[in-house]
Amino acid sequence: VFGAIVRAPEDPILGVTVAYNKDPSPNKLNLGVGAYRTEEGKPVVLSVVRKAEQLLVNDQSQIKEYLPIVGLADFNKLSAKLIFGADSPAIQQNRVVTVQCLSGTGSLRVGAEFLARHYHELTIYIPQPTWGNHPKIFTLAGLSVKTYRYYDPATRGLNFQGLLEDLGAAPSGAIVLLHACAHNPTGVDPTLEQWEQIRQLMRSKGLLPFFDSAYQGFASGSLDADAQSVRTFVADGGECLVAQSYAKNMGLYGERVGALSIVCKTEDVASRVESQLKLVIRPMYSNPPIHGASIVATILKDSNMYNEWTVELKAMADRIISMRQQLYDALSAKGTPGDWSHIIKQIGMFTFTGLNSEQVAFMTKEYHIYMTSDGRISMAGLSSKTVPHLTDAIHAAVTR
Ligand code: LMR
Repeated sequence: VFGAIVRAPEDPILGVTVAYNKDPSPNKLNLGVGAYRTEEGKPVVLSVVRKAEQLLVNDQSQIKEYLPIVGLADFNKLSAKLIFGADSPAIQQNRVVTVQCLSGTGSLRVGAEFLARHYHELTIYIPQPTWGNHPKIFTLAGLSVKTYRYYDPATRGLNFQGLLEDLGAAPSGAIVLLHACAHNPTGVDPTLEQWEQIRQLMRSKGLLPFFDSAYQGFASGSLDADAQSVRTFVADGGECLVAQSYAKNMGLYGERVGALSIVCKTEDVASRVESQLKLVIRPMYSNPPIHGASIVATILKDSNMYNEWTVELKAMADRIISMRQQLYDALSAKGTPGDWSHIIKQIGMFTFTGLNSEQVAFMTKEYHIYMTSDGRISMAGLSSKTVPHLTDAIHAAVTR
């Protein structure tokens, strides 16, 4: 009965790892997926995460019962505090509902399903370009996806005028997806002044912000600084949705731990929204897994562990920033044609190099360097040892 099924293409990001794994070359380098690696090219488990796991293993009160549909209560409370700030009026007024979800993707999907059922305007505007999974998540949830201008290939920076024009022309009430910080794939973020202008425009038109916060702490190394965009929108008393992921900032990729928060106008609305979120979640996966959320809650509620986490997080962010400088210096030293200053200007895990898909294919074939075909490289996968190899590959690709 399945004989006529057509083979689906590999995922544009996760498929890069599949291809990388098949390559027998000892020089191969995976700069595709956004996953942190050490200077030795190895994945890391943060030592504060190991410590939290040890505490959980030794704690006899830890059981494996089902969590509530909305997840671990402590985790939800602490996650809201992390993104909105400890002194957030929205939290103090109990206007925020937070539900534990399956990392960023799961949080976006639950939020999108909720909006498709209960929100009056089903169009969502996503930046052009954006993370490859965004359009699929929102379309499959039943929203209609449109794009707004975001990146300017000429300046390799923000097309702020285009962004304002497109959001200004959006129908009133439309949903707008915003990357809270460290825009994926471009590494280009609005300044705080620009965020304020975006906020004013969106509020004046009644556009609904849906933030994707996948890199809090990774852009600047500061958890508070990276939450400023979200906090600007919450400070005005208006509504918004936020999807949070702990994949990158706690290195909990495979634990699939994240949260969806919906900021409402009143406590009463928030509690009705929560009741409907439960109806979205229950038939999808019933209730979320315990382990990852317990690790996060253990770390966030203990001030020593929290501080230890921020130090480890900053070290990861700093290593990525130093990789940017090293790659930029190496290309400059080699005299590779072109302006590569965007490598040090862009922020977060990725550099949007400007290399085209043929150049990427050449680098993969000749240099065994794996990256997404849009020219994005994961700086977190690079190390001092591999910078020369990448530099040679980029130089060859642009001079051939
Ligand atoms: C990425 O963009 O590389 C990450 O967010 C991983 C993923 O799931 O695509």
